[in-house]
Amino acid sequence: MELIAATPLHAEVLAGMHRICFAEPWGPQAMIDLLAMPGAAGLIAVDGASLVPAAGPPGPAGLVLWRAAAGEAEILTIAVLPPWRRRGLGGRLVQAAADRAAAAGATVLFLEVDAGNRAGLALYGRRGFTAVGRRKGYYGGNDALIMRKDLDTTSSGS
Ligand SMILES: CC(C)(COP(=O)(O)OP(=O)(O)OC[C@H]1O[C@@H](n2cnc3c(N)ncnc32)[C@H](O)[C@@H]1OP(=O)(O)O)[C@@H](O)C(=O)NCCC(=O)NCCS
Repeated sequence: MELIAATPLHAEVLAGMHRICFAEPWGPQAMIDLLAMPGAAGLIAVDGASLVPAAGPPGPAGLVLWRAAAGEAEILTIAVLPPWRRRGLGGRLVQAAADRAAAAGATVLFLEVDAGNRAGLALYGRRGFTAVGRRKGYYGGNDALIMRKDLDTTSSGS
């Protein structure tokens, strides 16, 4: 599984994955606008043709978008397509975003997650995030948890 930099040319691919993974997905124009924000960047996990049996067909398998500015970073969205879930890809994407945000000068990484999203909460807890705030009724009735993690700025990461 290769991680490639997301660019505006990938807007349709990013939006297609978002549509599969979220009830209220972001469209191609939203992806273009996000990637145009100062400090914004993203990665797409691509499962290329390989002799090792893959979970799903060759092609995009997951995405992460983040923004780093003024020493702080935020994961804007992260998703793994269903056939590739529970294989460590979500964790790898979180780590890759954290490493790149740290390399861009961020010392702390934030994200927001639906308080009812068990997979998201488990993933972030395992990756060292702790809840630092709650927005009431943010996701159509569900609360949003704001989570943070201090970034290791002493190593270049994995
Ligand atoms: C959340 C998501 C990105 C996780 O991706 P993933 O590739 O399955 O994550 P990983 O395989 O790296 O899982 C890491 C750990 O998270 C936890 N986890 C992941 N999915 C889980 C689930 N459905 N239930 C419970 N724990 C889960 C486990 O502890 C897992 O480790 P384990 O498999 O060794 O037990 C994926 O489920 C997804 O895309 N969901 C829909 C979109 C979404 O909710 N994004 C996050 C919004 S903030």
